[in-house]
Amino acid sequence: MASEHLPVLTDRVVEFLSPAAPGLIVDATIGLGGHAGALLWENPDTRLVGLDRDPRALARAGERLRVFGDRVRLVEEAFDQLPEVIERLDLEPPAAILADLGCSSLQLDDPERGFSFQSDGPLDMRMGVQGPTAADLLESLEWNELVKILRDFGEERRAGAIARAIIKRREDAPLRTTAELSRLVQGVLGDHRGRIHPATRTFQALRIAVNDELGQIERFLEPAVRALRPGGRIGIIAFHSLEDRIVKHTFRRLAGRCTCPPGLPVCGCNPRRVITVLTSSPLRPADDEVARNPRSRSARLRVAERREES
Ligand SMILES: C[S@@+](CC[C@H](N)C(=O)[O-])C[C@H]1O[C@@H](n2cnc3c(N)ncnc32)[C@H](O)[C@@H]1O
Repeated sequence: MASEHLPVLTDRVVEFLSPAAPGLIVDATIGLGGHAGALLWENPDTRLVGLDRDPRALARAGERLRVFGDRVRLVEEAFDQLPEVIERLDLEPPAAILADLGCSSLQLDDPERGFSFQSDGPLDMRMGVQGPTAADLLESLEWNELVKILRDFGEERRAGAIARAIIKRREDAPLRTTAELSRLVQGVLGDHRGRIHPATRTFQALRIAVNDELGQIERFLEPAVRALRPGGRIGIIAFHSLEDRIVKHTFRRLAGRCTCPPGLPVCGCNPRRVITVLTSSPLRPADDEVARNPRSRSARLRVAERREES
């Protein structure tokens, strides 16, 4: 199925990143190229390097951005490899970097990718083509490791019970499909109690674990900021509080805020101001965008600018 992916907060991305142009823009999560296209139209003197770990997304972005000719280069790579990509391609320091975190509709809506409990498919959940699948993790992890994933990445209060059910089930036969996992979680938690499907948190947790999503962000942010040219800007769109917290704290630290534990008589972290944060609170989509694109409702954009003298 050819899925549409509506980019979120596009006007704000263009408004906040364009002042850093002309120069090189890095879209660290090119997806289907929606933000990239908007930035390239708006800034005719820029070139763009787009990264994605999903070769199918890169193929779609390549078609969509063909009109921009050699202004665009696409690279299959995880964004925590950005410094290596810059070195390998001998790129100039970027004027702007964008990361629109998480999955695209192309991934979420395709049952074969295994992200959704709403349709049946293999328990894959990988954005790219490498590494263990969700089924592999469910087959191999110990109870305490499963609990940690469900708690830390899914904020699932019944993590222990779900992990126990997974271990018991796999003694009979491995969990292979999204429907099997969804039924198992429903068996533990009962049917719909509130607004969200009982399997929502389990699926979110597994997806984050399979793709090491939080580790990717942690390893990416500071080197990305340091790769920017002076006056360059970085914009990050997060979709849940676990991601947004990392962005907020990293930006704060790089903006020179002391990160010492409270109560220390003297600051020991010697913070240096590398960036100025341009969004004192994250930018959220307006009501009409949420009405047009319900997936945008949890999006939060934070933007920072690399200081001239840092
Ligand atoms: C929300 S979509 C981006 C959509 C894009 N901004 C657009 O306008 O079409 C996120 C994309 O980032 C990719 N992605 C997520 N984490 C990544 C990572 N650590 N490294 C590289 N690509 C990643 C996903 O494969 C997905 O294609």
